[in-house]
Amino acid sequence: MRLAVFASGRGSNLQALIEATRAGRLDALVALVVVNRPEVGAIAIAEAAGIPVVVLDDRLYADRVAHERAIAAHLAAHTIDLVVLAGYMRILTPFLVGFLYDPTLGQSRIVNIHPADPAQYRGPDGYGWAIASSLTQTAITVHFVNEELDSGTIITQATLPILPTDTLDTLRARGLAFEHTLYPEALQSLLPRLKGGRLCVVSSGS
Ligand code: GRF
Repeated sequence: MRLAVFASGRGSNLQALIEATRAGRLDALVALVVVNRPEVGAIAIAEAAGIPVVVLDDRLYADRVAHERAIAAHLAAHTIDLVVLAGYMRILTPFLVGFLYDPTLGQSRIVNIHPADPAQYRGPDGYGWAIASSLTQTAITVHFVNEELDSGTIITQATLPILPTDTLDTLRARGLAFEHTLYPEALQSLLPRLKGGRLCVVSSGS
């Protein structure tokens, strides 16, 4: 199973996924890393691991679909089976969601990890939202991706307790450590559902 990990930042989940594949906890290969900014930490992580990385700066494309067409060409060239969003700060358009649609799975072959319950909070700052909301617990969610922000069918969801002493920094650190275990486990549990399917790949030039 050939994964493409998309990242826009630090890349700690990318690092965890690479380690899980190499430790045999995730029966897959991170075959490609896609980033949308030239300065992000995920690039160095991919390079250190010897994984091909493509930098496709979204600001250099006429629109979102043009950017995604460029991405799709790389996915096809690397025969990617599953796209794994790991801190990728872009909402996908119907073009890429359709490009990766698997009719057997009934889903696009794109997953994301979201540090909240999407029913409660969608957006880039799940841990900040949880602290600001004075919650006693929050959630970490792995879900299929569609064209809407942090939406799509949930694959797995775990509860993350929030301690009275937690600050944003301590909650984020504990949450990220939790993500690093949950994400590879969720992907491993998903693999059997991907084996019989196929991508309904449309031409990236269409
Ligand atoms: C993580 O909290 C993830 O859940 C969210 O974005 C953050 C990415 O962190 N979608 P990192 O770049 O993997 O360290």
